[in-house]
Amino acid sequence: MGWNSWNKFAERVTDKDVRDMADAMASNGMKAAGYVYINIDDTWESDRDANGMIRTNSKFPDMKALADYVHSKGLKLGIYSSPGPKTCAGYEGSYGHELQDAKQYVAWGIDYLKYGWCSAGGVYDNTPENGRITMEAAYAKMGHALLEATKNTNRKIVYSLCQYGNNNVGEWGAKVGGNLWRTTGDIGDRWQSMMNLGFNLQIGREKAAGPGHWNDPDMLEIGNGGMTDTEYQTHMSLWSLLAAPLLAGNDFREMKPGIREILTNKEVIAVDQDKLGKQAVRVYPPAPAEEKESVSKAQRGSTSGGLLQVFARPLADGGRAVGLFNLGDAPAKVTAKWSDIGITGSHKVRDLWKHEDRGAVKDEFTVEVPLHGVVLIKIAK
Ligand code: GLA
Repeated sequence: MGWNSWNKFAERVTDKDVRDMADAMASNGMKAAGYVYINIDDTWESDRDANGMIRTNSKFPDMKALADYVHSKGLKLGIYSSPGPKTCAGYEGSYGHELQDAKQYVAWGIDYLKYGWCSAGGVYDNTPENGRITMEAAYAKMGHALLEATKNTNRKIVYSLCQYGNNNVGEWGAKVGGNLWRTTGDIGDRWQSMMNLGFNLQIGREKAAGPGHWNDPDMLEIGNGGMTDTEYQTHMSLWSLLAAPLLAGNDFREMKPGIREILTNKEVIAVDQDKLGKQAVRVYPPAPAEEKESVSKAQRGSTSGGLLQVFARPLADGGRAVGLFNLGDAPAKVTAKWSDIGITGSHKVRDLWKHEDRGAVKDEFTVEVPLHGVVLIKIAK
């Protein structure tokens, strides 16, 4: 859980913005709710010195001082690079300097690295026969470098792979040291984009997720203004059911109370952070056996699975978290059937957005859901 600069600031992010976000996160309830990483995305890089050491540009005059500042707030600092010679925004990448860069990150006090493929496609063999093996090796190279650089220190650097889910990353992401890996292209602050990434493109990926290594459907757009609060609630609920990284992407200096409530709802965050670490599956309509099927449907631009959908994940205490979603353009009744979730009989139900107990419910739960909205419930053991 944390914050990343890209969705709101893109190439404009500065040292001051990062300090302001750290100040805000430490005092506005975000840190108390569990958010800890402050991640600088692309565009902090300059060139290399005579020894090949990476330098920051004028937006980030002193990375070590910035890390010290963020740490002084009880938070952690993340950074971004690429396995290619250039980053996605055209800045200096880590190609040929992996260990050197990892050592520099450790010297600065960096706690998290997001590593975006981009120009690596131009220097590594991308052919269908070799693409996967070279991509895996490029990510393993930095994975090893991070281990080597943190050896004999008490630091650990979280490793975030950003290669859009290509080459079945779920099968090898953890093996190369990845703690999370993107499963899609970039999110946009629009209903259609969030829905496509979160609903359509996650089906069948749950096998790969578990404690320490997670599917990443990209960062949150909550509070950036392109969706309604109801849609942002859907965004937060779905990411939590998917056990996804919760990386806020808004400007905390102008955060409205309603947005803060969405981002800091402790009962919803408890679903995301549940210790069992099981990613939700779509139980209604039943997800296709083949992941490929849903991906190809999504790429054709349709909503795979229809407008009323139910996602469920088992929780460590024996309960279940269940999201009843309405993707349609009018309010609708949605039903979660116990038989679809794999339980029977009567169970206590709690509404996690309203913070209300709904009493004991037998066999199925039906509720009116607003358009593009969700009712997120916990079903007790
Ligand atoms: C890629 C990533 C984005 C962001 C940009 C930065 O596009 O997917 O999340 O990191 O690079 O250039």
